[in-house]
Order: sequence, then C-alpha cells, then structure tokens
Amino acid sequence: MNIEELTALASQIEAAARDAGAMMLGAEADKSVSTKSGRKDLVTRYDKEIQRFLEERLLPLLPEAGFLGEEALGHDAHTERDFLFIVDPIDGTTNFVKGCNQSCVSIGLGIRGEMAVGVVFNPYRDEMFTAVRGGGALLNGAPLRIPDCAPEDALVLVGSSPYYRELTDVTFAMARLLFDRCLDLRRSGSAALDLCDVAAGRAGCYFECRLSPWDFAAGGLIVREAGGVVTDLTGGPLAFAQKCPVAAGNPQCHPALLQAAKDCGFSG
Ligand code: IPD
Ligand code: CA
Repeated sequence: MNIEELTALASQIEAAARDAGAMMLGAEADKSVSTKSGRKDLVTRYDKEIQRFLEERLLPLLPEAGFLGEEALGHDAHTERDFLFIVDPIDGTTNFVKGCNQSCVSIGLGIRGEMAVGVVFNPYRDEMFTAVRGGGALLNGAPLRIPDCAPEDALVLVGSSPYYRELTDVTFAMARLLFDRCLDLRRSGSAALDLCDVAAGRAGCYFECRLSPWDFAAGGLIVREAGGVVTDLTGGPLAFAQKCPVAAGNPQCHPALLQAAKDCGFSG
C-alpha cells in the first residue's frame, strides 16, 4: 500500500477509534471489575465490549487482516497474516476503573511485520494521534515534530510493569538514576499515551521494562514518525509479535534510557 492508501485507511481507523472513545466516555460509574493474570491486572466489561466493537469496525476495512487484541475473546488472532490489526481497546484500564480520565484507544496496523499505521485516541482530552509509515505523525491533524531537549531539562515517563513483580526492583533502580540525571519523573498509567507524550515533546523519554504489542504498536510508530527513537532497552529493534522492553525518546534523551538500563544491569 502506498502512503495515500495508508492515509485513507488511517482516517477510517480514526473514525472507529473516536466511536470507541465515546463508548469509554459513556461508561457507567459501576464498572464491575475482574482480574486477569494477577491481582493488579484488571478488566471490565467495557474492555471486552470495545474490543468486540473495534473488531467489527476494523476487519471490514481489510478483510484479509488478522486481529490481535488485548482481551481474549476466544477467536484465533491469525497473527501469521500479512496484515494485522494490533488493538488495545482501553489502554490505561486501571485509570479507567479509578476515574482518572487518562486512558485511550490504541490501534496499530502492521504489514508483514512492520507497523504501517498507528492511531491513539484519548477521548478525555479529545486528542487524536495518528501516524502513517513514511508520512509523518499528527496530533488532531497538525504535524508533530519532536523538539530536541537535553536529558537534564526533560521529563522522564516511567512505566512500572505492574503485572511483572520480578521487574520492580530494576524499574525503580532505573527511575532513581534517571531522577538524578533528568528534570523529574511522571507515571501516567497508559503506555500508549506515554509514547504519544514523547511524540508531542511533553516528555523527553519513556521506558517500561516489559510491554505487550498492543501497548506500543501504535504509539511506537507515532514516536518514530514524529522524529523520535524507539528500541528495546538494549537498543535493539522492538518485536511486534511478543512482549518486550520499550525505550522511546527524543534523539538526545533516548541514550540516557539505555545507559540507565546498563547501569542497573537490566537484562530483559
Ligand atoms: C497497561 C498500561 C500501563 C502500563 C502497563 C500496561 P492496560 O495497559 O499501559 O501504563 O504500565 O504495562 O499493561 O493493562 O491498562 O491496558
Ligand atoms: Ca494496555
């Protein structure tokens, strides 16, 4: 697909993300929470309903595509297909449950293992982030270009990998080092929005020691297309088909993440 075709597809994906965001905003206060992999890993009926809605909206756009979503709905994801939607119906589920108004819909489209389109919509701020590979990144239609900012003047976004207790000590050791080396730390509760905040220049960099593909598929492309750098924590490429560590930043700040990982003996 060429850039024009991908751009046309991206605007249809945006429309689906906007409608999914309206479902998030319309959720009742009582969200009847249950847990998945452990006591910190929450899910509500809205996560599942929005994923089902997105599956119904997105697959007709590309009937040959597979669909990998965060919530297990009992279907085969067909991740081996050339086209693959990678979807987080609500990124920031804990924020959603607690009423923090800091969650989003995240939709990536991979083509033969490379991200081609990324859409992240935050309905609480009405912010639509979009990227098309080779075509740049946009926030509500305006081009995003990451401003350069030295680590000592930059905010660092920390993802706590809440579902992986074995990563807690190294995560906080890295955060401690980065606190000394940078301006200050933030923890938002949504990996996709963290990546978009890096793309928008609100933060200089973001790291998390383990994420799933639906957390970073769309946001990673948005950072890259805005002029940032996205790798794993050793500087290697991200693996879109599996869980992996993520380091994203402007070109000046990204090396500070790799250095902190090295200094703390992070090994994956
Ligand atoms: C989580 C959020 C959180 C990050 C976790 C993710 P979820 O996604 O993005 O910020 O720290 O690693 O799993 O569970 O809210 O969709
Ligand atoms: Ca998520």
